[in-house]
Amino acid sequence: MIPPKQVQEILDATRIEEVVEDFVTLKRRGVNMIGLCPFHGERTPSFNVNPARNIFKCFGCGKAGDAITFLKEHENLTYPEALRWLARKYNIEIQEVERSPEQMAEAQLADSLYIVNDFGLQHFQKQLFETDEGKSVALSYFRKRGLREETIRAFGLGYAPDERDLLLRKAKSAGHNLELLKKVGLCSQDGSRDFFRARVMFAIHNLSGKVAAFAGRTMSSEKTVPKYVNSPETEIYVKNKILYGAFQAKKAIRQLDECLLVEGYMDVISLHQAGIENVVASSGTSLTEGQLDAIRRNTKNLKILYDSDSAGIKAALRGLDLALEQDLNVKICLLPKGHDPDSYVQEFGSEAFTKYISENATDFIFFKTNLGLEETKGDPYKRDGLEKDIVGSIARIPDPMKRGLFIRECSALLQVREDALYDAVEKLIKNTIKKKEEKVVRQPGAASDSRPPSEWSDWPSNVPPSDSSDWPESVPQLSLKAKAGAEFQERDIVRLLILYGQHVLPEENITVGEYLLTDIEESLGDFDNPLYGKIAVECHAMLVQGKVFDQHYFIQHESGEVANLAIDLLAEPWEFSPNWEVMWNYPLQNQPMPEHNFTLDMRQALDRFKLQKVQKMCALNLTRVQTASKSGDHEAMMRFMKIQQKLNETRNEIALRAGTVVLVK
Ligand code: GTP
Ligand code: MN
Repeated sequence: MIPPKQVQEILDATRIEEVVEDFVTLKRRGVNMIGLCPFHGERTPSFNVNPARNIFKCFGCGKAGDAITFLKEHENLTYPEALRWLARKYNIEIQEVERSPEQMAEAQLADSLYIVNDFGLQHFQKQLFETDEGKSVALSYFRKRGLREETIRAFGLGYAPDERDLLLRKAKSAGHNLELLKKVGLCSQDGSRDFFRARVMFAIHNLSGKVAAFAGRTMSSEKTVPKYVNSPETEIYVKNKILYGAFQAKKAIRQLDECLLVEGYMDVISLHQAGIENVVASSGTSLTEGQLDAIRRNTKNLKILYDSDSAGIKAALRGLDLALEQDLNVKICLLPKGHDPDSYVQEFGSEAFTKYISENATDFIFFKTNLGLEETKGDPYKRDGLEKDIVGSIARIPDPMKRGLFIRECSALLQVREDALYDAVEKLIKNTIKKKEEKVVRQPGAASDSRPPSEWSDWPSNVPPSDSSDWPESVPQLSLKAKAGAEFQERDIVRLLILYGQHVLPEENITVGEYLLTDIEESLGDFDNPLYGKIAVECHAMLVQGKVFDQHYFIQHESGEVANLAIDLLAEPWEFSPNWEVMWNYPLQNQPMPEHNFTLDMRQALDRFKLQKVQKMCALNLTRVQTASKSGDHEAMMRFMKIQQKLNETRNEIALRAGTVVLVK
């Protein structure tokens, strides 16, 4: 277990934007940073990171939280794993407290697949570097193919010798579980022999650098032996989501704002070694949507490098229409006959390689058109099909400017009138939209909305009138508004507790939490909204016990309801919209961000909260006055009238103060 003090240290060091940027490209927008949401497919960025609050929120799919939440969701980590991940990132050495057997078992179970794969990696590397067979067969093979030792290590290359069950025996004697070994596919399903034999090994990493799977390449040139064999799919190896080399390439892809896609493992490794690091491989299959998503999160520019004799070109091209839809700029470059990227860069060097691809990369649609023209030469029937195909591709491009450009170029290539092509594209787009709309009607309400609940909209935007004479008439209406109002006021108090509970008030030398909770101590049981009440009571109890409650505590709260509320509150005044100003009655434009202004914020909230409670008492007491008056109980009526007067005075006093505070700029 990680001691609480170190947990705090880790959390303090953590910057949400730095964590997110390991996976998502962010651009600054005002005080926030914005990028494409890694949790749902989108073309326009709605994934927001707020460095000041240390949280993220996607305004498209609603996912939100802090760095821990992000790692839990994105990397499938448990809470302690996320903490360890952060500790590694921020170079914080964890001194773990003894774990209980249950905790051990739990952690081991969660990590087990990676642990077994890691054993596999060590084993294959040992065989490669430390055995005679490994050195003479495999290491010399890698050297012959031009790889340096640092490259071999960086990519986790290894060797599986031609032995029946070497890994199996070693794994067993090291205490590894046979079921897990079967599961990750390091041994046969009957558990009798190694799965990878007489092959050079390639570790396949996930985005955070853990070994998710292996590929083994045969050393034999015999045609009957499959050239590559792969680990099976597991929870940690979802083939259509993993791009080979992505872990080693992600930084360069972002820096260069371009991703090169090649076919083979060796292509990735050779290019990387030559200093061309923004390269990943689809490993022989055509690109899947999941892989495209992974690319798109890092860059919009994709360059695909194919061998010119590649059998899969045409099939792959079909799949690429998907990339157009996602607004990727896709270019294709064929290598000279007889070369793949690996052989080209090994023979001619990285400069020649870069030059070659920059001169030969063609926009995907032109490439497809030209390829089609060659194929359909002299066959009018096929020609017709080609036109339809191209129109279909162009129609998928979301950007109308880009569409126009392609239409012009393709009309020249195909020798079809531009306006005819244009009409065909427009018609197709209209049909597609219509189909999509029909679909949406059938499954409504998928996207979440981050705006505050609509019942707040009837909260008056100014303070109640100070003239008490118009109160009796407004009682029924008031009680309605008081309900909506109570929600709002109480939410406001909870917002302050969660956002600034630990902030020390400069003048008072106590925390916001202490200030608020001692001030409303006697109203803690009077919250109308049970959730807000529960949080206030919990905060109060923690305060009494001297425990810390901060943003992190609430975001990771065991109650999902509380955690969700915390996120919603944290994300709320994300940007100061005009709507926000009316709703909250803040002259926001002239004020610093709430986080720099919590003293004022807090006093206003307290006043509003108390005002609402006093109003409630006023309304209640007024019914007493009316009852007493009806029953002719003069004495009681006088007593309640006095109380009413006092309540009204208090109410007006607070209202006036709240009004003054609100109006001060
Ligand atoms: P070298 O021939 O050593 O240069 O490897 P390569 O990576 O260039 O292989 P190649 O161009 O023949 O194939 C491209 C990619 O397709 C490989 O990296 C593999 O991911 C995949 N592939 C090739 N052959 C097989 C096979 O027999 N089985 C499987 N599962 N994948 C293969
Ligand atoms: Mn090759």
